[in-house]
Amino acid sequence: MTARTAARITASVYTSHVPAIGAALDLGKTQEPYWQPVFAGYEYSKQWLRDNPPDVIFLIYNDHATAFSLDLIPTFAIGTGPEFMPADEGWGPRPVPKVVGHPELASHIAQSVIQDDFDLTIVNRMDVDHGLTVPLSLMCGQPPQSKFEWPCPVIPFAVNVVQYPAPSGQRCFNLGRAIRKAVESYDEPLKVQIWGTGGMSHQLQGPRAGLINRDWDNRFLDRLIGEPAALARVPHIEYVREAGSEGIELVMWLIARGAMSDTAPVLKHRFYHVPASNTAVGHMILENT
Ligand code: DHB
Ligand code: FE
Repeated sequence: MTARTAARITASVYTSHVPAIGAALDLGKTQEPYWQPVFAGYEYSKQWLRDNPPDVIFLIYNDHATAFSLDLIPTFAIGTGPEFMPADEGWGPRPVPKVVGHPELASHIAQSVIQDDFDLTIVNRMDVDHGLTVPLSLMCGQPPQSKFEWPCPVIPFAVNVVQYPAPSGQRCFNLGRAIRKAVESYDEPLKVQIWGTGGMSHQLQGPRAGLINRDWDNRFLDRLIGEPAALARVPHIEYVREAGSEGIELVMWLIARGAMSDTAPVLKHRFYHVPASNTAVGHMILENT
Protein backbone atom coordinates (compact mmCIF):
# COMPACT_ATOMS: atom_id res chain seq x y z
CA MET A 1 0.00 0.00 0.00
CA THR A 2 1.24 3.47 -0.78
CA ALA A 3 1.13 6.18 1.88
CA ARG A 4 -1.72 8.62 1.58
CA THR A 5 -0.41 11.85 0.13
CA ALA A 6 -3.54 13.83 -0.75
CA ALA A 7 -5.52 16.10 1.53
CA ARG A 8 -8.84 14.85 2.89
CA ILE A 9 -11.92 16.13 4.67
CA THR A 10 -11.99 14.59 8.13
CA ALA A 11 -15.12 16.14 9.62
CA SER A 12 -17.76 18.82 9.28
CA VAL A 13 -18.97 21.23 11.93
CA TYR A 14 -22.27 23.14 11.79
CA THR A 15 -23.06 26.09 14.01
CA SER A 16 -25.03 29.31 14.38
CA HIS A 17 -23.10 32.58 14.40
CA VAL A 18 -25.31 34.91 16.51
CA PRO A 19 -23.37 38.18 17.02
CA ALA A 20 -24.62 38.55 20.61
CA ILE A 21 -22.71 35.33 21.41
CA GLY A 22 -19.52 37.14 20.45
CA ALA A 23 -20.44 40.05 22.70
CA ALA A 24 -21.26 37.66 25.59
CA LEU A 25 -17.83 36.04 25.19
CA ASP A 26 -15.95 39.31 24.87
CA LEU A 27 -17.71 40.88 27.88
CA GLY A 28 -17.25 37.83 30.16
CA LYS A 29 -20.96 36.94 30.34
CA THR A 30 -20.74 33.25 29.44
CA GLN A 31 -21.73 32.07 32.93
CA GLU A 32 -24.78 34.33 33.21
CA PRO A 33 -28.04 32.31 33.44
CA TYR A 34 -29.19 33.42 29.99
CA TRP A 35 -25.95 32.41 28.26
CA GLN A 36 -24.72 29.46 30.30
CA PRO A 37 -26.92 26.84 28.50
CA VAL A 38 -25.74 28.13 25.11
CA PHE A 39 -22.04 27.81 25.92
CA ALA A 40 -22.59 24.47 27.69
CA GLY A 41 -23.58 23.08 24.30
CA TYR A 42 -20.06 23.77 23.01
CA GLU A 43 -18.03 22.26 25.88
CA TYR A 44 -17.88 18.86 24.17
CA SER A 45 -16.97 20.55 20.88
CA LYS A 46 -14.01 22.50 22.24
CA GLN A 47 -12.50 19.29 23.62
CA TRP A 48 -13.30 17.43 20.40
CA LEU A 49 -11.45 20.10 18.40
CA ARG A 50 -8.41 19.83 20.69
CA ASP A 51 -8.48 16.03 20.28
CA ASN A 52 -8.99 16.20 16.51
CA PRO A 53 -6.90 19.18 15.38
CA PRO A 54 -7.28 19.97 11.67
CA ASP A 55 -4.44 21.39 9.56
CA VAL A 56 -6.87 23.76 7.86
CA ILE A 57 -10.48 24.83 8.43
CA PHE A 58 -12.55 25.65 5.36
CA LEU A 59 -15.15 27.96 6.89
CA ILE A 60 -18.37 28.70 5.01
CA TYR A 61 -20.12 31.77 6.35
CA ASN A 62 -22.02 34.82 5.23
CA ASP A 63 -20.83 38.37 5.27
CA HIS A 64 -23.38 40.84 6.70
CA ALA A 65 -22.74 43.88 4.48
CA THR A 66 -19.31 44.23 6.10
CA ALA A 67 -16.80 43.27 3.39
CA PHE A 68 -19.41 43.37 0.63
CA SER A 69 -22.14 45.98 0.35
CA LEU A 70 -24.90 46.50 -2.18
CA ASP A 71 -22.10 47.81 -4.43
CA LEU A 72 -20.79 44.31 -5.04
CA ILE A 73 -22.55 41.03 -4.22
CA PRO A 74 -20.63 37.84 -4.96
CA THR A 75 -22.74 34.68 -4.63
CA PHE A 76 -19.67 32.67 -3.60
CA ALA A 77 -16.35 34.24 -2.59
CA ILE A 78 -13.20 32.37 -1.56
CA GLY A 79 -10.52 34.04 0.56
CA THR A 80 -7.18 33.31 -1.08
CA GLY A 81 -5.20 35.91 0.88
CA PRO A 82 -2.59 35.29 3.60
CA GLU A 83 -4.63 36.92 6.37
CA PHE A 84 -8.02 38.46 7.18
CA MET A 85 -8.66 40.98 9.93
CA PRO A 86 -11.69 40.97 12.26
CA ALA A 87 -14.06 43.67 11.01
CA ASP A 88 -15.30 46.69 12.88
CA GLU A 89 -19.07 46.08 12.99
CA GLY A 90 -19.87 49.32 14.76
CA TRP A 91 -18.38 48.76 18.22
CA GLY A 92 -14.76 48.29 17.11
CA PRO A 93 -13.31 44.97 15.94
CA ARG A 94 -13.86 41.99 18.29
CA PRO A 95 -10.78 41.30 20.46
CA VAL A 96 -9.95 38.10 18.59
CA PRO A 97 -6.87 37.09 16.59
CA LYS A 98 -6.52 37.84 12.92
CA VAL A 99 -7.41 34.91 10.68
CA VAL A 100 -4.40 33.36 8.95
CA GLY A 101 -5.35 31.94 5.56
CA HIS A 102 -3.94 29.13 3.44
CA PRO A 103 -3.37 30.73 0.03
CA GLU A 104 -1.97 27.58 -1.59
CA LEU A 105 -4.90 25.30 -0.73
CA ALA A 106 -7.43 28.09 -1.33
CA SER A 107 -6.00 28.76 -4.79
CA HIS A 108 -6.03 25.06 -5.60
CA ILE A 109 -9.69 24.82 -4.55
CA ALA A 110 -10.54 27.91 -6.62
CA GLN A 111 -8.83 26.40 -9.66
CA SER A 112 -10.57 23.04 -9.29
CA VAL A 113 -14.04 24.34 -8.40
CA ILE A 114 -14.09 27.01 -11.12
CA GLN A 115 -13.03 24.39 -13.69
CA ASP A 116 -15.97 22.36 -12.35
CA ASP A 117 -18.29 25.20 -13.46
CA PHE A 118 -18.88 27.02 -10.15
CA ASP A 119 -18.26 30.75 -10.43
CA LEU A 120 -16.25 31.85 -7.41
CA THR A 121 -15.11 35.37 -6.69
CA ILE A 122 -11.47 35.36 -5.65
CA VAL A 123 -10.77 37.63 -2.71
CA ASN A 124 -7.23 38.45 -1.71
CA ARG A 125 -8.17 41.11 0.80
CA MET A 126 -11.23 41.39 3.03
CA ASP A 127 -12.22 41.77 6.66
CA VAL A 128 -14.29 39.05 8.31
CA ASP A 129 -17.34 39.72 10.50
CA HIS A 130 -19.25 37.81 13.20
CA GLY A 131 -20.35 35.28 10.60
CA LEU A 132 -16.82 33.90 10.71
CA THR A 133 -15.40 34.99 14.07
CA VAL A 134 -18.28 33.80 16.30
CA PRO A 135 -18.09 30.16 15.08
CA LEU A 136 -14.32 30.23 15.66
CA SER A 137 -14.84 31.62 19.17
CA LEU A 138 -17.49 29.01 20.00
CA MET A 139 -15.33 26.11 18.87
CA CYS A 140 -11.89 27.33 19.97
CA GLY A 141 -12.62 29.53 22.97
CA GLN A 142 -10.66 32.74 23.46
CA PRO A 143 -6.96 32.20 22.60
CA PRO A 144 -4.64 33.20 25.48
CA GLN A 145 -2.72 36.47 25.27
CA SER A 146 0.54 34.45 25.37
CA LYS A 147 -0.35 32.74 22.09
CA PHE A 148 -2.92 35.03 20.54
CA GLU A 149 -3.78 33.05 17.42
CA TRP A 150 -6.41 30.60 16.11
CA PRO A 151 -5.29 26.95 16.24
CA CYS A 152 -4.79 26.60 12.47
CA PRO A 153 -5.15 28.42 9.14
CA VAL A 154 -8.70 29.16 8.00
CA ILE A 155 -9.96 29.59 4.43
CA PRO A 156 -12.96 31.95 4.51
CA PHE A 157 -15.70 31.11 2.03
CA ALA A 158 -18.48 33.71 1.90
CA VAL A 159 -21.95 32.95 0.53
CA ASN A 160 -24.54 35.59 -0.30
CA VAL A 161 -27.67 34.83 1.73
CA VAL A 162 -28.40 38.48 2.55
CA GLN A 163 -29.47 40.02 -0.75
CA TYR A 164 -31.77 38.14 -3.10
CA PRO A 165 -31.28 36.01 -5.10
CA ALA A 166 -29.53 33.57 -2.77
CA PRO A 167 -28.17 30.29 -4.16
CA SER A 168 -30.39 27.21 -3.90
CA GLY A 169 -29.79 24.38 -1.46
CA GLN A 170 -29.16 22.08 -4.42
CA ARG A 171 -26.45 24.32 -5.82
CA CYS A 172 -24.84 24.59 -2.39
CA PHE A 173 -24.88 20.81 -1.96
CA ASN A 174 -23.33 20.29 -5.40
CA LEU A 175 -20.72 22.94 -4.64
CA GLY A 176 -19.79 20.98 -1.51
CA ARG A 177 -19.15 17.94 -3.66
CA ALA A 178 -16.90 19.98 -5.94
CA ILE A 179 -15.01 21.28 -2.90
CA ARG A 180 -14.51 17.70 -1.69
CA LYS A 181 -13.05 16.73 -5.08
CA ALA A 182 -10.78 19.77 -4.96
CA VAL A 183 -9.47 18.98 -1.47
CA GLU A 184 -8.89 15.34 -2.36
CA SER A 185 -6.76 16.36 -5.33
CA TYR A 186 -4.45 18.59 -3.25
CA ASP A 187 -1.07 16.94 -3.12
CA GLU A 188 -0.25 17.26 0.56
CA PRO A 189 -1.66 15.06 3.35
CA LEU A 190 -3.62 17.83 5.08
CA LYS A 191 -6.53 17.12 7.40
CA VAL A 192 -9.23 19.60 6.41
CA GLN A 193 -12.38 20.32 8.38
CA ILE A 194 -15.30 21.97 6.66
CA TRP A 195 -17.58 24.19 8.72
CA GLY A 196 -21.05 25.30 7.64
CA THR A 197 -22.27 28.23 9.71
CA GLY A 198 -25.28 30.52 10.18
CA GLY A 199 -28.91 29.73 11.01
CA MET A 200 -31.04 28.25 12.43
CA SER A 201 -34.57 29.69 12.27
CA HIS A 202 -34.66 33.45 12.77
CA GLN A 203 -36.25 36.55 11.35
CA LEU A 204 -34.85 39.96 12.26
CA GLN A 205 -37.28 42.16 10.35
CA GLY A 206 -40.92 42.84 9.54
CA PRO A 207 -44.11 41.62 11.21
CA ARG A 208 -42.73 38.11 11.80
CA ALA A 209 -39.56 39.33 13.58
CA GLY A 210 -38.64 36.88 16.35
CA LEU A 211 -39.94 33.81 14.48
CA ILE A 212 -38.50 30.48 15.71
CA ASN A 213 -39.57 27.05 14.41
CA ARG A 214 -38.23 24.26 16.64
CA ASP A 215 -39.91 21.41 14.75
CA TRP A 216 -38.65 22.53 11.38
CA ASP A 217 -35.12 23.12 12.74
CA ASN A 218 -34.91 19.67 14.31
CA ARG A 219 -36.25 18.03 11.19
CA PHE A 220 -33.56 19.92 9.25
CA LEU A 221 -30.90 18.47 11.56
CA ASP A 222 -32.34 14.94 11.18
CA ARG A 223 -32.34 15.22 7.41
CA LEU A 224 -28.90 16.83 7.24
CA ILE A 225 -27.55 13.72 8.94
CA GLY A 226 -29.60 11.05 7.21
CA GLU A 227 -30.90 12.30 3.85
CA PRO A 228 -28.91 15.35 2.76
CA ALA A 229 -29.51 14.84 -0.96
CA ALA A 230 -33.28 15.03 -0.41
CA LEU A 231 -32.88 17.98 1.96
CA ALA A 232 -30.92 19.79 -0.75
CA ARG A 233 -34.06 19.82 -2.92
CA VAL A 234 -36.02 21.96 -0.43
CA PRO A 235 -36.74 25.25 -2.27
CA HIS A 236 -35.63 28.57 -0.80
CA ILE A 237 -39.23 29.67 -0.24
CA GLU A 238 -39.70 26.89 2.34
CA TYR A 239 -36.72 28.22 4.34
CA VAL A 240 -38.23 31.69 4.34
CA ARG A 241 -41.72 30.49 5.18
CA GLU A 242 -40.74 27.99 7.87
CA ALA A 243 -37.44 29.28 9.26
CA GLY A 244 -37.86 33.03 8.71
CA SER A 245 -36.15 35.46 6.37
CA GLU A 246 -32.73 34.86 7.94
CA GLY A 247 -33.29 31.09 8.17
CA ILE A 248 -32.05 30.99 4.56
CA GLU A 249 -28.54 31.09 6.12
CA LEU A 250 -29.01 27.32 6.54
CA VAL A 251 -28.27 26.62 2.87
CA MET A 252 -24.62 27.12 3.84
CA TRP A 253 -24.78 23.96 5.95
CA LEU A 254 -25.54 22.02 2.77
CA ILE A 255 -22.19 23.04 1.28
CA ALA A 256 -20.37 21.48 4.25
CA ARG A 257 -22.61 18.39 4.13
CA GLY A 258 -22.03 17.96 0.39
CA ALA A 259 -18.28 17.94 1.02
CA MET A 260 -18.58 14.89 3.27
CA SER A 261 -18.14 11.33 1.97
CA ASP A 262 -21.13 9.61 0.38
CA THR A 263 -21.04 6.94 3.11
CA ALA A 264 -22.92 7.65 6.35
CA PRO A 265 -21.00 9.94 8.71
CA VAL A 266 -20.58 9.45 12.45
CA LEU A 267 -22.65 11.86 14.54
CA LYS A 268 -20.32 13.07 17.29
CA HIS A 269 -22.45 15.83 18.76
CA ARG A 270 -25.84 17.46 18.33
CA PHE A 271 -27.14 20.49 20.19
CA TYR A 272 -30.19 22.75 19.90
CA HIS A 273 -31.16 25.61 22.15
CA VAL A 274 -33.69 28.47 22.17
CA PRO A 275 -33.22 31.36 22.65
CA ALA A 276 -29.97 33.06 21.84
CA SER A 277 -30.65 36.64 20.88
CA ASN A 278 -33.25 36.35 18.09
CA THR A 279 -32.34 32.88 16.92
CA ALA A 280 -32.43 29.19 17.63
CA VAL A 281 -28.88 27.95 18.12
CA GLY A 282 -28.11 24.72 16.31
CA HIS A 283 -24.83 22.86 16.33
CA MET A 284 -23.60 19.51 15.11
CA ILE A 285 -20.36 17.62 14.45
CA LEU A 286 -20.14 14.88 11.84
CA GLU A 287 -17.01 12.80 11.22
CA ASN A 288 -16.12 10.94 8.07
CA THR A 289 -15.39 7.28 8.72
C1 DHB B 1 -28.84 38.08 14.88
C2 DHB B 1 -28.61 36.90 14.20
C3 DHB B 1 -27.82 36.88 13.04
O1 DHB B 1 -27.58 35.78 12.30
C4 DHB B 1 -27.24 38.06 12.60
O2 DHB B 1 -26.43 38.00 11.54
C5 DHB B 1 -27.48 39.26 13.27
C6 DHB B 1 -28.29 39.27 14.41
C7 DHB B 1 -29.66 38.10 16.11
O3 DHB B 1 -30.06 37.04 16.61
O4 DHB B 1 -29.91 39.17 16.64
FE1 FE C 1 -26.48 36.16 10.41
